Order: sequence, then structure tokens, then C-alpha cells
Amino acid sequence: MSVRRLDPEQPKSFAFTPENLAWAEATIAKYPPGKQASAVIPLLWRAQEQHDGWLPEPAMRLVADMLGMAYIRVYEIATFYTMFQLSPVGKKAHVQVCGTTPCMLRGAEALVDVCKKKIHPDPHHLSADGNFSWEEVECLGVCANAPMVQIWKDTYEDLTPELLEKVLDGFATGNPPKPGSQIGRQASCPKGGPTTLKDFTKAGK
Ligand code: FES
Repeated sequence: MSVRRLDPEQPKSFAFTPENLAWAEATIAKYPPGKQASAVIPLLWRAQEQHDGWLPEPAMRLVADMLGMAYIRVYEIATFYTMFQLSPVGKKAHVQVCGTTPCMLRGAEALVDVCKKKIHPDPHHLSADGNFSWEEVECLGVCANAPMVQIWKDTYEDLTPELLEKVLDGFATGNPPKPGSQIGRQASCPKGGPTTLKDFTKAGK
């Protein structure tokens, strides 16, 4: 886990597009009076999506103003959650490799090596073509299908170094693979299919 600081180079301003502004206002209106601050995470996420996958500081201030929050409260949220990117990320993919214990025990270090080789030796740096970046994050909640990475909103699971290379190649050519298990597991079923409750003819006897 790295120290999370605001990027020293920031745009001067940020404004939502008319569509996103209308969406933000409708989102804020879902919360009861006095509870508008509850919309902070969806609004920051929408700002990040609009701003090429990273969240600039003027967007944090805009969201704070819209929600009547102190700027520091929004900075705290943006710098705490690794779902928010504080510096520019790869145009085609920002790869978040889970490095928590279940993923680590199942080979996450080898996935980090793939990122170092194919993207950049260090996290939070753009690849030479500007298309990719990577970082290590804590548990992303897919431990049963470890090891895994998240790219944008999707998770790619049951990875090996070779399978991660394939995922990255897919993003490079604009043809990413289907999210989820990359070895065809159904959710978190055992490899090879169910091992119990297979004979329903005996059910209820
Ligand atoms: S430990 Fe990697 S997803 Fe939970």
C-alpha cells in the first residue's frame, strides 16, 4: 500500500458535463434532507469517470460544495479509498492487483511481476505509451477466486501470470476478455463443478 497524496499537477478547474450534472442532482435528491453528504462517493466516482479515470482536486472541491461538506472531509474520503485515483492512470487500463493474504498465498506476487514487466517497474507510473498503469491494493472481496485484479469496474479472477498477460493484451487491442473467472469457474464453485448435493433424486428421503 502506498502513501496516497494529491498529484502535484492539477487542472485549474473541473465542471460536470450537463448530463453528469443532471445525474448528480438526481442522485443527491435521493437522500433525505440533511443527509446529502451520503452522495459523496457516487459523485466522486462519476467525476473520476468523466476525468479519464482519475480524480482531480478541483473535482473534490466541486463535490464538497455541491454537498455542503468541508473540503477536508472530501479529501479524507478520496485519499482513503483506493477506488479513487489521485494521479493520471493508463488510458486503456489501470490494473489494481490484490495483494492481501488469500491472493498473496495464491500467487499475487507473480501477477505484480507481470505488471512490472509489461507496464512499468513501479506502481502509479504510466507505461511508455501511456495506455497502462498499475498498483497493489488490499482485498477487493473476491478472495474465493484468488488471485485477482480489478480493472475499472470489473474483476478478473483465478489468474495465473499467463492469464493476466492475456487480459492485458485484450485491453491493449480494445478487446478485453469477459470479467470474472478466467478459468471458467461458475462464481466460486469448486474447480470442475459441484462436489456435493449432486443427486437431487435423494432429496427429502
Ligand atoms: S484477498 Fe484478494 S480479493 Fe480478498
